[in-house]
Amino acid sequence: LKVGVLVSGNGSNLQALIDLCRRPGFPAEIVLVVSNKPGVKALDRAARAGIATAVVPHEEYPDRLAFDQAIDAALRTADVEFICLAGFMRVLSEMFVELWRDRIINIHPSLLPSFKGLHTHRQALEAGVRFHGCTVHIVRPRLDDGPILVQAVVPVLPGDDEQTLAARVLKAEHKIYPQALRLVAEGRVTIEGTRARIDDQFL
Ligand code: GRF
Repeated sequence: LKVGVLVSGNGSNLQALIDLCRRPGFPAEIVLVVSNKPGVKALDRAARAGIATAVVPHEEYPDRLAFDQAIDAALRTADVEFICLAGFMRVLSEMFVELWRDRIINIHPSLLPSFKGLHTHRQALEAGVRFHGCTVHIVRPRLDDGPILVQAVVPVLPGDDEQTLAARVLKAEHKIYPQALRLVAEGRVTIEGTRARIDDQFL
């Protein structure tokens, strides 16, 4: 499975996916990393792993659709079959998401459907939840919506602030994103409307 990863920053989730895909015989290969920002660490991580990179600066496009079309063109040129959003900080248009229907997954730092959007750790602390976590889901046009593939739970501890909670969630992200990509690459995910069925006979 040829995978394209869209990034915007540090790329720690990208690194987790790179480390998984480099295992011998793994059924997915990252063939392109696209960033909407130049010079970010995620691009260095890709280059160090010998993966092709592209930068599509969103501010150089007149509107969201033109930007998405440039992203789409870069992905198609690299024969990408499946997209992983990894710390990608742009909202993709409905046109793009439908073009790649059920072939885009994203990792969101909360237990969806709780705490959609940004500043999820602040939302969790303000809500006083005892457990927080992260979610890998199929991307649908509505933000942070779509069939859930994998989730992980972390405790909210006394004295936690946004930074300590974010760090705990990020560690869990690095575990579940590779798990989710493995399930997809092994053809064990079936999308049925708003839910994903995982063929977990081997789990
Ligand atoms: C992090 O806040 C993570 O929770 C979210 O995207 C941000 C950057 O992640 N998924 P990364 O280090 O660029 O993968």
